[in-house]
Parts: sequence; C-alpha cells; structure tokens
Amino acid sequence: MPTTANAKRKILVTSALPYANGAIHLGHLLEYIQTDIWVRFQKSRGHQCHYVCADDAHGTAIMLRAEQEGITSQALIDRVSEEHQADFARFGVAFDNYHSTHSEENRHFSELIYTRLRDRGHIATRDIEQMYDPVKGLFLADRFIKGTCPKCRTPDQYGDNCEACGATYTPAELIDPVSAISGATPEVRSSTHYFFKLPDFAAFLQGWINDDHVQPQIRNKLMEWFESGFNEWDISRDAPYFGFEIPDAPGKYFYVWLDAPIGYLASFKNLCEREGLDFDAYWREDADAEVYHFIGKDIVYFHALFWPAMLHGAGMRTPTAVNCHGFVTVNGAKMSKSRGTFIKAATYAEHLNPEYLRYYFAAKLTAGVDDLDLNLDDFAYRVNADLVGKVVNIASRCAGFVKKLGGGRLSATCTQPQLLQRAIDAGDEIAGHYDDREFGRAMRLIMEIADEANTYIAEAEPWVLAKQEGREQEVLDICSVGINLFRQLMVYLAPVVPAMAEDARAFLNLDGLDWESRHTLLEDHAINKFKPLMTRIERDRIDQMIEASKEDLAVEKQLKETPKGPLADNPIADEIGFDDFAKVDLRIVRIAKAEYVEGADKLLKLTLDLGGETRTVFSGIRSAYAPEALEGHLTVMVANLAPRKMRFGVSEGMVLAAGDDNGIYLLEPHSGAEPGQRVT
Ligand code: MSP
Ligand code: ZN
Repeated sequence: MPTTANAKRKILVTSALPYANGAIHLGHLLEYIQTDIWVRFQKSRGHQCHYVCADDAHGTAIMLRAEQEGITSQALIDRVSEEHQADFARFGVAFDNYHSTHSEENRHFSELIYTRLRDRGHIATRDIEQMYDPVKGLFLADRFIKGTCPKCRTPDQYGDNCEACGATYTPAELIDPVSAISGATPEVRSSTHYFFKLPDFAAFLQGWINDDHVQPQIRNKLMEWFESGFNEWDISRDAPYFGFEIPDAPGKYFYVWLDAPIGYLASFKNLCEREGLDFDAYWREDADAEVYHFIGKDIVYFHALFWPAMLHGAGMRTPTAVNCHGFVTVNGAKMSKSRGTFIKAATYAEHLNPEYLRYYFAAKLTAGVDDLDLNLDDFAYRVNADLVGKVVNIASRCAGFVKKLGGGRLSATCTQPQLLQRAIDAGDEIAGHYDDREFGRAMRLIMEIADEANTYIAEAEPWVLAKQEGREQEVLDICSVGINLFRQLMVYLAPVVPAMAEDARAFLNLDGLDWESRHTLLEDHAINKFKPLMTRIERDRIDQMIEASKEDLAVEKQLKETPKGPLADNPIADEIGFDDFAKVDLRIVRIAKAEYVEGADKLLKLTLDLGGETRTVFSGIRSAYAPEALEGHLTVMVANLAPRKMRFGVSEGMVLAAGDDNGIYLLEPHSGAEPGQRVT
C-alpha cells in the first residue's frame, strides 16, 4: 500500500448495504460514520477516493414485509431507499453514489459472475429437502418455522434453536411445527438447488486471509473455520422470491447474499457511468487501485470468504482489505427496544446534533473489532468537554478581540511560530492514525493541541491586558495565534465534524480546510463574524430521545396489533383458555376529548370517560380520524393494560380498532351501551 502523502492514490470504499426493510439505527451508524470519516480524510489528503453504497433490496423478508404492508416490493424498497438516504444525509454520511441491488447494473454483474463461475466448473446442483408452506406456496427458511422444542417442550420456538433451553435442532425435529407466515403445517419437499463450490478455493483463501487483507483477530477466526472445513454454498432459492432469476434455471433465484456484495460493483459502475470513471481500472484482476470494504463483525464470512472466492473465480481483483468493526452497545448492554436504547437515526436527529455522535464514535474507535459502548453520561461529558469546552472555546475567546482591536484582521506576523509549528507537525502523526483507522488516537492528539492552545491563552490572559492601555497589539497577537491554532484544529477535525468545519471555514474566511492547507499561516488575514459553532449537550435532550425511542416501539406494536394486507387473514394467534380471555378488562368508554399531539404524526390523545373515571390514552389512529369526528362517540378500551410512559405523557390503556389496506376503524357498540360497562 502506498504511504507517501504526495503520491495520489485511487481508492474505492464501501460500507455494507443496509437491508431495505428497516430503519437505520445507531448501530448501523457506527459503520457509516467510521467509513465516512475515513473517506473524508482521504479526500482531504488529496487522494482520488470514491465512496459507494446501496440498499440491499432482495430476499424473502423484504417480499413478506411488502405483502404485510399491502404494497409491492418495488414500492417498499423505493420508500425505504429514500428514508435511508435522508437519514445518512442528516448524519453527514456523504456517499458519492447510493444505488440499489435491485438494479440493471446488479443484474448484469450477478449474471456475469455466475456464468463465469459456472463455465469454469465452480457451480454444482443437487436436490435438497426443505420445509414447505403449502398455504403460501413457499419454501420456509428456519426462522419462518415455529413449534414446540423437542428437548424441553417449550411451545412457540423458532426453527433452529430454543430460547428457553438453548437446544439447537433442525426444523424437522420440532414438535407440531407450523409456518410462522400462514400458521399451516409445513410439508417436507424436495427441490433442486445451485451451489457455489467454495472448497475449490480453499488454497486460494488460505493464502488470501494470511496476506494482511483482514485484521489479526479476524484472521484467527477465519483460520478456525478453515480447520473445520468448508461446505459448498447454497446460492439459489425457489420462486416466489424477490430477486434475480438465475440465467439457465427458470424458477430459481439468486440467494440475496449472492447478489448483495455484487451490489458494490453495481453502485460503482453506476457512478462510473455518471462521472466518466474507468471501472476496469478498479476491478480488473491486476488493477492498481485500492478497494476497501467496511463491515460489521456479523458478516465477515460473506466478505472474507465467499466474496473474494467469487471475485477470484470470476477473474476479477479481490479487495485490498476488509475492515471490520464491532457492535454498538448502549450503556453497557445490547440495544434494547424496551429500555429505549434501540435508537433510530431519525429519532436521534430530532433531539441531538448528529455531529456529537460522530465525534463520540471517533473518540472511541480503534482499528479493532471490539464492541463500542455508547455510554450516554460519558457521551455528554466528552462532547461538552472536548468539542465545546476545548475547541470552540478557543475561537469564541479570541474572535471578539480580533474584531475589536484588528477590525476583524489578524496580526501581520505570528508571534508564536514554534507553538504553531508543533501544531502543524502533529498533522503527520494524526494523519497516520486516521489512515490506520485509529481514530481514538487521532482525537487524543488533537485534544492535546487544543489543551496547549487553551493553556497558552489562559496564561497570556488577553482579557486582562485588554484593560490596560497601550497593549492592544499584544492582545491582537495573542488572539491571532489562538485563531491560527483553532484553524489547525479544524483541519484535523473536519473529517469527523464536517458541518461544524464548514461553519468554521466560513468564519475563518478560507476556501477550504484540506490537510495541506494547514502549512500556510493566517497572517494579515480578514476573518468573518463569529457565530457559536456548537452548543453543549443538555441531559434532558438525551432523556427525551430515550422516551421517544420507547414510544417508537409502542406505535410499532399498535400498528402490528392491526395487521394490514393478506397476512391479516391469517393472524398467528395461539389458542387461549377462557381464563386468559377473562383477564382482559374490556370497557365501553365515551371519547370525551380527542386532540392532536404536537410532534407525533401518528398519534391522537384521547380523553376517555369510563362512567365516572377518566383515562388518557395515546392511540396511533391519527391517519384515520380528525379529532372532532371522534368526540362524543362510544368505543371499547382495554382498561387494565399496564400504563405506558410516552414522551407526551402516560397512556393508560388502549382503544380497539380494526384495520386493513383501506384504513383503521374504531370499534363502536350499538346504541344503548353505557360508558363503564364491561364487555364480555
Ligand atoms: N444487508 C446486509 C449487508 C450486505 S453487504 C453486501 C446487512 N445489512 S444490515 O442492515 O443488517 O447491516 C448493515 C451493516 O450495519 C452491517 O455491516 C452490520 O454489521 C452493521 N450493524 C448492524 N447493527 C449494528 C450494531 N448494533 N453495531 C454495529 N454495527 C451494526 O447485514
Ligand atoms: Zn427447549
């Protein structure tokens, strides 16, 4: 790998392609932020660096999700693609191209790679037996089968392992298995599958993973897999499937994980067409460009075994490196919906500045694969202490004096050349850490410079001198040094906090903040009016974000309780006894008041009269009813549901509604029913 700063490198960078059936959350963001920082750094250094991504749009899960929402797969992936791109934009993740695996480019490359592998003898076919849902007409992956655990007899366990006793088994061993999609009893059926002969590449892969293309921890993990031997990889799925049909095999589709990494090529090809870049210069077997994939540790197998083998087998180059990161935990535990720590990108951005998170992730990232804990107290403390307390502080202390004493112009010569030279020289070491993905180390060095700058200003005490007559030039000199140091810091921080850096660039009246620009000092240089660049994190904004995340879950549940589309005809409900039913306290209520809830686009706040007692309930029916249309009407509520704390208040129960593609319908009793009456 070329390391000299002045040799211009050609670099292609990818992040994993997010599934097109769910929202981006803070876990995902670790990866996109890590990648984006690295890319922005490379661009700052003047390299030709392209960052591409796409939605991973194929597979059964997406097909079923679309069906459940009563829309086409295409409509679902179009909507989710827009949501994903809006989320990424809010967090400053600046892809050069965002595409989809459901694209013509991807069909082309999937067919190309497959046919090359087939023609070179790396594809096998064989019949396999699998569970089949006769009602849906669909082969069932293990996670779509439920039944009673053969070992401990706990009911309602998924097809491959028991949550109660931890046993692992095949779906065929489950007692009374049912399809989790239709509730039907599955049958065992045979069908022909296509396999990629991974063992053909054992020797090649052994060499590849020992050649610095993966981190040492990953190499060790892969070597363990090696020792237990490889199987052929099943790359086909039977219709109905949302994906690409295999060229010589009607009714057979490429498994989503076959065409997903090929989506990297597709997105880059799409970019090349738009910008006139040479695709082959990056992907032919002897290409000298660099290619890096950033991924999470859960998808190593696909990226460090299948993918290089596929590329090599098809006569293309393999990645320069697969850079793997760990998982995000929040307050020391796995992200949890009920604790409110499963935080969506959009929910975070409604409450907090995305650049806080970018800085915090950067401050904690290493080149390793350890998990990264987002400790919310530490998060607030670090961002406030470092970015606001150290960095912004320098500019805000100095800007006023420069305006007042220099008319907005910095001193003609820098009075602390050594101090500034140290800050400039540190750029080489900081760059080394960025390049090595040791962002935490880079942030520590940057904060050391900020500490030095603050110490210098604190000791020079310009605010004291300013009160003494005839010392104006000294004050201006000190503050000009401060502004110059602030500029160095913003060059170093720009990959991490691009929006703040843009505001700083405007304040400093510069054309750019690229890495090399730091060598020219700002002397006799006019700066612009200072505006606060970043405010402190307030603890109650974090608390509100946690509450809002709990509420996302409550709304999700409510929507699930009224399933839409074809699945509504086949709700998966277990039989219950009368005693279970009798536990539910259903009451007739009068809707005394109905109101919009500011900031909640799905909810109405209902004040319910139970014949004397009053309850407040937040209900996800806003899309179906104007508040005035509900007031005075009778409906049915669950009166003994545990209260649920939401951002806007406590919800004390729920009202009952029916729903399908056409809308949501509140239940209403015949006239004569009285508020407070029990429903039995
Ligand atoms: N669609 C596949 C990737 C195909 S790449 C050819 C996929 N999608 S995903 O949406 O589930 O995940 C996208 C990326 O986010 C993955 O690299 C995954 O590891 C990462 N993360 C998802 N949850 C995460 C955390 N909680 N923490 C850190 N990264 C996480 O996998
Ligand atoms: Zn069990």
